[in-house]
Amino acid sequence: MSATQRERADAVVMPTYRRYPVTFARGKGFYLYDETGRPYLDFVAGVAVTALGHAHPAVTEAVARQAGRLVHTSNLYYTEPMAELAGRLTGLLGWPDGRVFFANSGAEANECALKLVRKAFRAEARFETVAAWGSFHGRTMQTLAATGQPAKWEAFRPLPPGFVHVPYDDAPAIGAAVSGDSAAVLLEPVQGEGGVVVPGEGYLPEVRSICDAQGVALVLDEVQTGLGRTGEWFGFQAYGDRAVPDVISLAKALGNGFPIGACVARGRYATAFGPGDHATTVGGGPVVSAAALAVLDTIERDGLVERARKVGDYLRQGLAGLVESHGLPVAVRGKGLLLALQLGADSARDIAMAALSEGLLINDVAPSVLRFCPPLTIGEAECDEALDILAKVLRGMPS
Ligand SMILES: Cc1ncc(COP(=O)(O)O)c(C=O)c1O
Repeated sequence: MSATQRERADAVVMPTYRRYPVTFARGKGFYLYDETGRPYLDFVAGVAVTALGHAHPAVTEAVARQAGRLVHTSNLYYTEPMAELAGRLTGLLGWPDGRVFFANSGAEANECALKLVRKAFRAEARFETVAAWGSFHGRTMQTLAATGQPAKWEAFRPLPPGFVHVPYDDAPAIGAAVSGDSAAVLLEPVQGEGGVVVPGEGYLPEVRSICDAQGVALVLDEVQTGLGRTGEWFGFQAYGDRAVPDVISLAKALGNGFPIGACVARGRYATAFGPGDHATTVGGGPVVSAAALAVLDTIERDGLVERARKVGDYLRQGLAGLVESHGLPVAVRGKGLLLALQLGADSARDIAMAALSEGLLINDVAPSVLRFCPPLTIGEAECDEALDILAKVLRGMPS
């Protein structure tokens, strides 16, 4: 699309995004290609979505096969792919009593989790959810209210009531905030949109203990961290069995770009909903479920969780080396293949724009933070390619 065509697109699409000035026509593996056929090494992966890379043959084949057989029935009927996917997810989580609700996005998966805990505590009239400042849980009214970023609230007040926010990585603050009104604590194992913030080792286990002691649900939003991204199948598994949630939300990588979200609950929460309590017409349909099964198969077969850990270490070291060799006032942080550079100034957008013009996609998740969340399939060669481009870009930037 020419600049004029992009202007025309802006005239008919709501301006909710500040888009980069590029139009992608196709994708394959680690690369997106613009209309002229120019490749761009993709270290954004559709915001941690295309974990297998673009046009992965296993997903393409599963979708094509299922689309030719059965696309949609509504949730009034049973379909095999959904049942199989639910079993795979509860199996991966090790929750034999787990139950899944399939939605179409991360926000919807969280919306389900929030409704679920309200329903579970209905009899006690406990309705509040304690969440963290800096968190991101989605853009529906309830998930927006749960999101700990007041700047995103302003235009939409009054927000739904029932959310209390405390500083992230501060377990005593959670302990102080949980009250007789609380139903749940909702947290990300690593805050993604908040700037790739990794809490201290003791945080989630301590929060788990607080939830146990107070009898409230621990809900972990693993929309971004789940399915291998942090070098574990699920982010909470970094703590062994010390931070196992009662409810987990998943989305993003689950469909590798096909729209699916999942809210998985165990114990008393697994059976808190009854018929009519929650619904979606197309959620967990046969095609997205087939896509998700192909995603899980591929992550398992190709050892991508382990790979995220190993290649993530390599990329992290490379980024640290870059920081050192350029004498930059920046820090590297993150887990697995969810990494970030904290810059000394609000130059993330300028760096991302300069990287784009050099054929590398990176994301300015905050004004002073660059995020790196490439496909889990990348290797050291792609990391080197990205680091070379970044080095070139940084050389040309005022530090
Ligand atoms: C942790 C987390 N939760 C929820 C969401 C919302 O997901 P979606 O955009 O699919 O609604 C996101 C999206 O970035 C996220 O990172």
